[in-house]
Amino acid sequence: MEIVRIAGAVGAEIHDVDLAQPLAPSTVSAIRAVWLEHGVIFFRDQKLDPRQFMDFALAMGTPIEYPFVRGLPDFPQIIEVKKLEHERTNFGGMWHTDTAYLECPPSATMLLARELPPYGGDTEFSSMAAAYDALSDGLKATLSGLRGVNSSAKADVTKSREDRIASDGRADARKQYVSEHPVVRTHPETGRKSLYINSGHTVRFAGWTEEESQPLLSFLFHHQQRAEFTCRFAWRPGSLALWDNRCTLHNPVNDYHGFRRIMHRITLAGDRPR
Ligand code: SIN
Repeated sequence: MEIVRIAGAVGAEIHDVDLAQPLAPSTVSAIRAVWLEHGVIFFRDQKLDPRQFMDFALAMGTPIEYPFVRGLPDFPQIIEVKKLEHERTNFGGMWHTDTAYLECPPSATMLLARELPPYGGDTEFSSMAAAYDALSDGLKATLSGLRGVNSSAKADVTKSREDRIASDGRADARKQYVSEHPVVRTHPETGRKSLYINSGHTVRFAGWTEEESQPLLSFLFHHQQRAEFTCRFAWRPGSLALWDNRCTLHNPVNDYHGFRRIMHRITLAGDRPR
């Protein structure tokens, strides 16, 4: 396996692995170690049907269903993340970590590129461990006791799901999911601290009003996007990304109106943030 970092704080490509073949336990452990170190890993030119994609997911963890959108008929844990020619909003089109409004948000997300626009449609990632490390000791101390209230119903994220709920929505979805999590999360596997809030879902700090929370949240949301914490991935058909939702944010760029972008997504079970 060749490992090629694509930026200073987050992101590495892994070359010379064919995920369509059964993976030896030592290969799975090696992939996992690179993933934990770099926050998001990328593979190129993978020819995986849904069964093979699911087999790779099962090698890495426990696939779970997404609460708002139905999966493929034979693989309910694989959803289509898509934007069609006539649509204007892209699914999850803001900086966020996946489904932080659940009590146990997914540890990881895997995204496999199926159909891409002729240009654009990249995804940006940001290291929340780097974002946390760059804060002053004073602000780290202030944040250490705080919990964030995360909701599935903020206006922008709700709008970003509307097209997919209209085409593939789940009848059993709740109107809203809300969970409180520590603002400073300790990674259960690496022990590294990271900033666990995001502009897509975090509404306020627990015990604070939205108005009181807004100035500090707004500072942190801007801080999380600083270029030196990020990388940007340009997809090709067959590219596969695997990101760690516990310590990264991502942002799909919506710059390809008039073209289709179709991806297959699997999320893996996670623990309660601490
Ligand atoms: C997502 O937030 O799961 C979608 C990311 C993407 O489309 O690049």
